[in-house]
Amino acid sequence: MSLDLLVRNATLPDGRTGQDVGVRDGRIVGVEPGIAAEAGRVIEAGGRLLSPPFCDVHFHMDATLSLGLPRLNRSGTLLEGIALWGELKPHLTHEAVVERALRYCDLAVAQGIGAIRSHVDVCDDRLLAVDALLDVKARVAPYLDLQLVAFPQDGYYRSPGAAANLERALDRGVDVVGGIPHFERTMAEGAASVRALCEIAAARGLRVDLHCDETDDPNSRHIETLAAETLRLGLGGRVAGSHLTSMHSMDNYYVSKLIPLIAEAGVAAIANPLINILIQGRHDTYPKRRGMTRIPELAAAGITCAFGHDCVMDPWYSLGSGDMLEVAAMAVHVGHLSGRDAMRACFEAVTSAPAAIMGLDDYGIAPGRRADFVLLQAADPIEAIRLKAARLAVVRRGRVIAEAAPRLTRLALAGRPAEVDPAAYAPLATD
Ligand code: FE2
Repeated sequence: MSLDLLVRNATLPDGRTGQDVGVRDGRIVGVEPGIAAEAGRVIEAGGRLLSPPFCDVHFHMDATLSLGLPRLNRSGTLLEGIALWGELKPHLTHEAVVERALRYCDLAVAQGIGAIRSHVDVCDDRLLAVDALLDVKARVAPYLDLQLVAFPQDGYYRSPGAAANLERALDRGVDVVGGIPHFERTMAEGAASVRALCEIAAARGLRVDLHCDETDDPNSRHIETLAAETLRLGLGGRVAGSHLTSMHSMDNYYVSKLIPLIAEAGVAAIANPLINILIQGRHDTYPKRRGMTRIPELAAAGITCAFGHDCVMDPWYSLGSGDMLEVAAMAVHVGHLSGRDAMRACFEAVTSAPAAIMGLDDYGIAPGRRADFVLLQAADPIEAIRLKAARLAVVRRGRVIAEAAPRLTRLALAGRPAEVDPAAYAPLATD
């Protein structure tokens, strides 16, 4: 048997060690110890973690890398960010949006991201960003799966033309129905928007991903309507609620009824830890709420939970580096998710869970699947999160599309080692 690529002695996210992964014609043909075969290229993993690619299931690629246009967000607040985006929108050009998005995709690939779900603002009668990101989607397809969400940033009902523009965007090939019910004028209009958007998705056979209850107001309960509509229309497994930050502040008794409803409906939860911890709790004095939704309780109920990056260097968030391990690390801290299994689940929340939400059915390191994976400078998922480990090799369809040298630092200390490898500090006990 002749292979195109053979990865030797890898550890997999499920804990299996000493695994070889054989690849031919862009597909994984074997995952087992000691594969004896010639290969066009051999990667010695040396016991390091080989993971399926990172998936960022919540992003805004029409705004990314626009930080500074037309001016910087001086206060760092959500409100100034929204105002800035409004100032920038009329000046967007197709070419500039495409160029920034392509540059971001370069960074994402270098960081081991293989799939991104990006919301795209449809509250612009020109649908300029929609056309630009559809263009980008086609151009990056060889190396990145880009899924687009029609997102009425200024409100499905509240923004004139948004309802028609959303349908036009879907007609042009945008994949997923988006919304922002908590931003509508009233709770009633928010709930009505959830119903309308779910009906559009049902009629078109599409997925749903709403910015839902991204507020500290515990009375923002659109997730309840989203779950109920998912049940009514039989959309289970195709619907996600993004942010859900109001759940952080809700009454526990109400949540004890809400979470089983979300589970029954088959609605997934997407938190955005970097943004949630930064934006929520801004009206608080002390103590300040964290704002991230109730990931431990949602996960315990069997609800698929994933984490998104949301923003990188845009009007709302001036930081970010496309590093889904930074996202997972923030979730560990914000969500008190430091148990061993909880930390492993945080790794899954930036890999297999978002892949499931996006419907990437060819995902994972197993025979027959597409040969997409990332070799990390870490021994296991917990160490990967701890170190925000270097991506040593990024493989797409069996081809190495990004490579980096291990992070090593030379030391000049008498009597101490000549070199420090950050991944050489293992725990003194394993589980
Ligand atoms: Fe968002």
